[in-house]
Amino acid sequence: NAPGPYGNASGQRDAGSERGNGTVLVVAAALLDRGRLLAARRSAPADLAGRWELPGGKVEPGERPEDALVRELREELGVEAEPGERLPGAWPLKPGYVLWVWTARLLSGEPRPLEDHDALRWLARAELDSVDWLDQDRPAVAEAALRLPGA
Ligand code: C5P
Repeated sequence: NAPGPYGNASGQRDAGSERGNGTVLVVAAALLDRGRLLAARRSAPADLAGRWELPGGKVEPGERPEDALVRELREELGVEAEPGERLPGAWPLKPGYVLWVWTARLLSGEPRPLEDHDALRWLARAELDSVDWLDQDRPAVAEAALRLPGA
């Protein structure tokens, strides 16, 4: 999937979301509150349903990544949140998609699974292995764990 003006061979990427280098940026949050990390269980698509992830989604054309993160948390969880530091790393998802993750803190609201998810859990550091994380989210979860008490 070399970047190029005509997209990749799979043709499955959202051309409208790409960043001009042939890659769609997906942003997600390590939402930290009271010493816990929020995990969200996907309700779709079928191949991801039931697996747990850090909530987030695609950056729209012309949108700043941090703004996309705030928007996605508002849409998916009904909360206002503030991005903190970006976790070091950029993780490949399906072809043509890459994941960046920020820590985030809650400003207002209690997260509810409004869109894309059917369950949420607040996990302490010792509980992080108790859910079946999406493979592609695991390195980011490990990095987020270092920001939880007990690290
Ligand atoms: O949520 P949305 O469908 O916009 O996410 C775009 C893509 O990024 C999906 O294929 C989803 O599986 C992936 N993703 C991921 N890990 C996340 C958030 C999204 O693999 N934490």
